[in-house]
Amino acid sequence: MIPPSTLSAFGPGKVILLGEHGVVYGYPALAAPLSIGVTATALLRAGSEEASVEVPAELRGPGRRLLVEAFDAAVRVSGAGGLRMTLDSELPPSMGLGSSAAVAVACAGALLKSRGRSAPPTVEEIARVAWEMEKVFHGTPSGIDHTTSARNQLIHFRRAADGDPSKAQVTPVTVKRPFGLVVALVGERPSTKETVAALRARQARWPERYARVFEQIGTLVEEGRGAIERGELELLGDVMDMNQGLLNALGLSSAGIEEMVHRLRAAGALGAKLTGAGGDGGAVIGLFEEADRVVTRLRRAGIKCFASRIGEAAR
Ligand code: MEV
Repeated sequence: MIPPSTLSAFGPGKVILLGEHGVVYGYPALAAPLSIGVTATALLRAGSEEASVEVPAELRGPGRRLLVEAFDAAVRVSGAGGLRMTLDSELPPSMGLGSSAAVAVACAGALLKSRGRSAPPTVEEIARVAWEMEKVFHGTPSGIDHTTSARNQLIHFRRAADGDPSKAQVTPVTVKRPFGLVVALVGERPSTKETVAALRARQARWPERYARVFEQIGTLVEEGRGAIERGELELLGDVMDMNQGLLNALGLSSAGIEEMVHRLRAAGALGAKLTGAGGDGGAVIGLFEEADRVVTRLRRAGIKCFASRIGEAAR
């Protein structure tokens, strides 16, 4: 008997550098891939049409059902079959670091590869299948998370008016001077879906005032992009700080997030802000020329964090 063969695909996690939430309303955002992420491994079963996913034991509550539902949607759109998928994640879940998008991109890559075509799947094909999973996980996300993960590069992203991520304006951003981020974990947070929905309710009640803030965030995104392209890290830090102030104004920060932002600034960050949906927990990023030594110091003080380098060759 020929032994069953396996194949695998990787999906990186992501950080939003600038512009989260505004991006849902059509304003631009900047996001970068992390070097850590999710690996999906497919055990191929010749002679079977069935495709299933092994739900990780640590996944609790509705997340278990959602993963199966999302995976089934990806199987349908990819046309794959005859496999059992396992997942191996290096990402802390539900921290705003794109773990669901990384799962989606890794599964999409492995499902498409399993169809045994001679050419590897394209970024667009992977993104299309991953999007089916993201919709199950998040409802109506902007699409920035799985697009960043599928492209595995720092991007400037603007959602299309009809929300179709294959029509989004996506431009790679050149990083003149690579930089370090400290990614510090604040703690559990509500789901992205809930935080986005709560903001949507406030925005629907007072649309003009909220539009003014989104507009300001969009302007900061363009300034931040220029700073990255010119290697002006102090300017980028200042833009990040201001973006944090506006996220706070939108009701997306919390005591824990603010404390971590101030802690990173006190540790020498050029700028610090929440990343992802925020709400009441999640992750905070701090901008440093060199983040490794800061991480060692912060860990000694009991802070859960890791370093990520932006602008260097992707994994
Ligand atoms: C989540 O990583 C980013 C948000 O802007 C939601 C989205 O873009 O779908 C909060």
